[in-house]
Amino acid sequence: MNDLLQELERELEKIRSQNLYRSLTPPQGLDFCSNDYLGLSRDPNFRTAILEKLEQATGPDSVSSPASRLLRGNTSRHQALEQRLSGFKGTEAALIFPTGYQSNIGVFTALVGSQDRVLSDAQNHASIIDGLRLSGCQKIVFPHLDLGAVEEALIQPHPEGKTFLVTESLFSMDGDVAPLAAYAELAKKHEAYLIVDDAHAVGVFGEERGSGLTERFGVEKRALAIVSTFGKAFGLFGAFVAGPQVVIEYLINRCRSFIFTTAVPPLLLYGVEAGLDLLDAEPERRKRVCLLADRLRQRFKEAGLDTLQSAGPIVPVVLGKSERALAVAQRLQEKGLDVRAIRPPTVAPGTARLRISVHADHTEQQIDQLAKAVEKAIKSIDS
Ligand SMILES: Cc1ncc(COP(=O)(O)O)c(C=O)c1O
Repeated sequence: MNDLLQELERELEKIRSQNLYRSLTPPQGLDFCSNDYLGLSRDPNFRTAILEKLEQATGPDSVSSPASRLLRGNTSRHQALEQRLSGFKGTEAALIFPTGYQSNIGVFTALVGSQDRVLSDAQNHASIIDGLRLSGCQKIVFPHLDLGAVEEALIQPHPEGKTFLVTESLFSMDGDVAPLAAYAELAKKHEAYLIVDDAHAVGVFGEERGSGLTERFGVEKRALAIVSTFGKAFGLFGAFVAGPQVVIEYLINRCRSFIFTTAVPPLLLYGVEAGLDLLDAEPERRKRVCLLADRLRQRFKEAGLDTLQSAGPIVPVVLGKSERALAVAQRLQEKGLDVRAIRPPTVAPGTARLRISVHADHTEQQIDQLAKAVEKAIKSIDS
């Protein structure tokens, strides 16, 4: 026992010496780092709508469902919401999962076998990477957003198994957008299956329903599975997978991270329903968050700062070394602006950054104040 504890202490020391140590800190200051893109978590109307739904719901299944979905954890509320979510997403069916992490683990382990090959963007989220690892597939990592590399890989025959192409739609750390329509075309041409993680785009993109980039690019019906989460623009927690009916039915029968876990409680479903109501009623929120983010990017551009190819609410400012990113974030926090440094291994070595997330309830003045503060903090750290 003691040996292991000492080993862990040494490992933590090493992490500290590399400026990569993490600790849990309570939120403080103006939120520029959570994924609450529409500002729902702070919206009193959202809170009221959830509480009203909770009050109106009666019966033993109205709050909790402490069993797995395949046993007593399934309620008519889950099924009604899944039907609504499939309409929202524009697919035949949908299935609620406890988290996006579990969705990705489940989708890949259920649908991909060890004889299959999967083309995966170099910047894909850890949950996709872990799902692919667990599936035991042959993984081909292609350079971020490199359409040419995707086509080149797809041209290679793979008679031993099926081929899949997996990508985030809006990338969580670079804030840029995958060419989903081109991927869908390539997948069709080369008989591959497209899987999309739409976690950061749901609620923000999509002119009509606001259901994500799969809607914006019109690929909802061309993907084998689309993962979306409630922990970002919905301001809540949880996730769902959308796709063809047969895929969803197969997941219900074979997806271990869906089967062997407790059903999401109805308590959470009221929040999701209220979120869907709000997306419908207030489409201007998604327009506003994108306009504010564009304003911030413009301010940064004027200051000569690199925001990569970001589009939408995530605005990265790449600063290079971890200590530089940490010091700048620290300055901003001292000014009451909650901006966090993102360091390896979350991002590639040498690309530590501020990952700023813009919300629909920020004001123009707050955006301008942040832009000035970032510029000033960088100058003072570098001087
Ligand atoms: C792209 C992406 N997919 C999946 C997840 C996991 O979702 P969840 O937080 O619901 O587990 C995240 C982040 O948390 C993410 O950024």
